[in-house]
Amino acid sequence: LGVAGAVTLTGCDGFGSRGTRDTVGDVDFRNQLPIPPLAEGTHRDGVTVFDLTAQAGRSAIVPEGMSDTWGLNGTFLGPTLRARQDESVQVNVTNQLDEATTLHWHGMHLPASADGGPHQMIAPGDTWSPAWTINQPAATLWYHPHPHGETERHVYRGLGGLFIIDDEQESLLGLPRDYGVDDIPVIVQDKSFDDRGRLVETSRRDNGMLGETILVNGSPGPVLEITSERTRLRLLNASTARSYSFGFSDDREFAMIASDGGLLREPTWLTRILLTPGERAEIIVEMRPGQQVTLRSFPHDLGLSNGRSRSTGATDTLDILLLRANEDLDRSADLPARLATIDRLDPSSAVETREFELRSHRINGQSMEMDRIDDVVTVDTTEIWEVWNGHRQPHNFHVHDVQFQVLEIDGQPPSPELAGWKDTIYLPPDLRYTLIMRFTEYADPAVPYMYHCHLLWHEDQGMMGQFVVVEPGQDPDRIGTDHDH
Ligand code: C2O
Ligand code: CU
Repeated sequence: LGVAGAVTLTGCDGFGSRGTRDTVGDVDFRNQLPIPPLAEGTHRDGVTVFDLTAQAGRSAIVPEGMSDTWGLNGTFLGPTLRARQDESVQVNVTNQLDEATTLHWHGMHLPASADGGPHQMIAPGDTWSPAWTINQPAATLWYHPHPHGETERHVYRGLGGLFIIDDEQESLLGLPRDYGVDDIPVIVQDKSFDDRGRLVETSRRDNGMLGETILVNGSPGPVLEITSERTRLRLLNASTARSYSFGFSDDREFAMIASDGGLLREPTWLTRILLTPGERAEIIVEMRPGQQVTLRSFPHDLGLSNGRSRSTGATDTLDILLLRANEDLDRSADLPARLATIDRLDPSSAVETREFELRSHRINGQSMEMDRIDDVVTVDTTEIWEVWNGHRQPHNFHVHDVQFQVLEIDGQPPSPELAGWKDTIYLPPDLRYTLIMRFTEYADPAVPYMYHCHLLWHEDQGMMGQFVVVEPGQDPDRIGTDHDH
């Protein structure tokens, strides 16, 4: 009801009418932005227990008709989980789909046994119940499936949601933090629909599927009613392949306050923030009474040649979310000058430097093998990972379990938006990213951690590797063979 027409594209570029266009037509903003419900945990013996059920269903996303979709505790997407630092949580994940899947906690620092990667498949009808204690600062994390070779399809059909971490320090800063009121989840995805409103899974190019309809929290043409002077948007690029350069239609500045792994040192004023698949940013937008402005993705430079940029959607202008301020706005506290202390990891403490070249759906020339451990890390050590994109396709790089810091990009210090904690980072071709990270959780060969490109088609094609985290001196050869796959 009241669903706006999807963005209409008129061009033809060899993919029927579903290709990308440089300029996207007007979006009819008339759907109230849905806010994913907060999952209600139950409390048992000091543990907060959440229940998530992956299920198939049907959703009316666009007015043309219903689509088969997947969701968690619903037919499309899932609830927002929320927990605070030091809280012990357990999530009972039940799979009511008719195929196996997994659920991975993207950005979460946790034992590998709870990570939900491709070795932790949940068979149809089964329940998987990872438990861990939240051990990281306030941040906007997310969850999504991770079955090897099938991640793109499972995410595209609708499995995913936010996992918000709170901590005491963040709660005392006076930031907007009233969920769904002045603290708004903004899960951005691009989808293709056919003329009967069904999700299309075949519009795939070199880099994966690009959709022409942008959904926020599962809805096209969304409108957010603004009720306060300052509103926090928790932006998540949950698309499978598309990157967004977020900004506002009037080019206003906004304050970026957090990257993937939590608060920045101080608010950073920007007019654009690039988020590639899997990345998050929290921003504060200030509005005056009665004002309207559109959150938009602008054409951007992925460091690729122009032809390649088109096939990534980087040349598109996309209207995403209309913000409409009430005539009376609640007062908001001023933004604090300082947000968080970020202890810099010291490169001289690193015990190992590894290199990762991403090229042709491979990392260091190798395609993901479930039975091959690629890297053996010693627990309680710091390492430097030098990562670069060796060809002219867009890739990013995500590491499980850790949040890393960017030491240098081709010898230069990172810009402020990349100076905080990150778990996923865009790699323009040929620039060398020097990352530093510390490993404090174990991963044995039966359940290793992953690193991979988060363009999910690339990941599915094998652009992924596996690492274990073990005691010093543990024999890597033994590890390579001594497991049961
Ligand atoms: Cu968001 Cu290995 O994934
Ligand atoms: Cu890639």
